Amino acid sequence: MPTTPPLTGVPSGPTTIDAVDYRRVLGHVPTSVAVVTANARSGPVGMTVGSFTSVSLDPPLIAFFVDRSSRTWPRLYEASYFGINILGHGHSALCQAFSRRSEDRFLDVDWNPSARDVPLLDEAIVTLECTRAKVDLIGDHYQVVGRVETMELRATDPPLIFLRGGFVDMSSSDEAPGRDGMNA
Ligand SMILES: Cc1cc2nc3c(=O)[nH]c(=O)nc-3n(C[C@H](O)[C@H](O)[C@H](O)COP(=O)(O)O)c2cc1C
Repeated sequence: MPTTPPLTGVPSGPTTIDAVDYRRVLGHVPTSVAVVTANARSGPVGMTVGSFTSVSLDPPLIAFFVDRSSRTWPRLYEASYFGINILGHGHSALCQAFSRRSEDRFLDVDWNPSARDVPLLDEAIVTLECTRAKVDLIGDHYQVVGRVETMELRATDPPLIFLRGGFVDMSSSDEAPGRDGMNA
């Protein structure tokens, strides 16, 4: 029975993958859109990520990836807790607000602090409060793993989907409630 090889690091050396092609080809893979938020010393901070994913059920772990040149990351890292705010299909403006180079991305955004003082966006369809569990530098990104402390399904609207550099129109998407759906 084959076993998983131990993690020995990321292969280095020359690559034949062109950066522009890499972005173009992987842009054909749809992603969700989440805003990662935290209460930094300077106040609430947040950034848009398309790299959010669930990782583990027991314990409940999630992850996302941050460009190591991000100017927001050092401030997100100041807090032990962070929030994940999954955006619904009507909220592309929030996606853009939190990816813009701006000092106050929370201007004109409705949000409230959670019990752990994590800023959570009122318009998110799903919110999670997480403890920062692990951060690793992988290539040119940090892999950030968080343990989910609380979660809330706030709306069953279709999610905002990013694909090929734009948003997919999900407005006419049928609700397909699974057994856990709020309207199931
Ligand atoms: C749809 C979308 C998805 C994004 N996903 C990521 C991501 O997963 N990781 C990341 O580091 N940046 C991602 N970005 C870019 C960041 O939101 C943005 O570059 C960053 O917040 C720039 O500001 P900063 O230097 O203050 O961090 C994404 C942007 C958009 C519009």
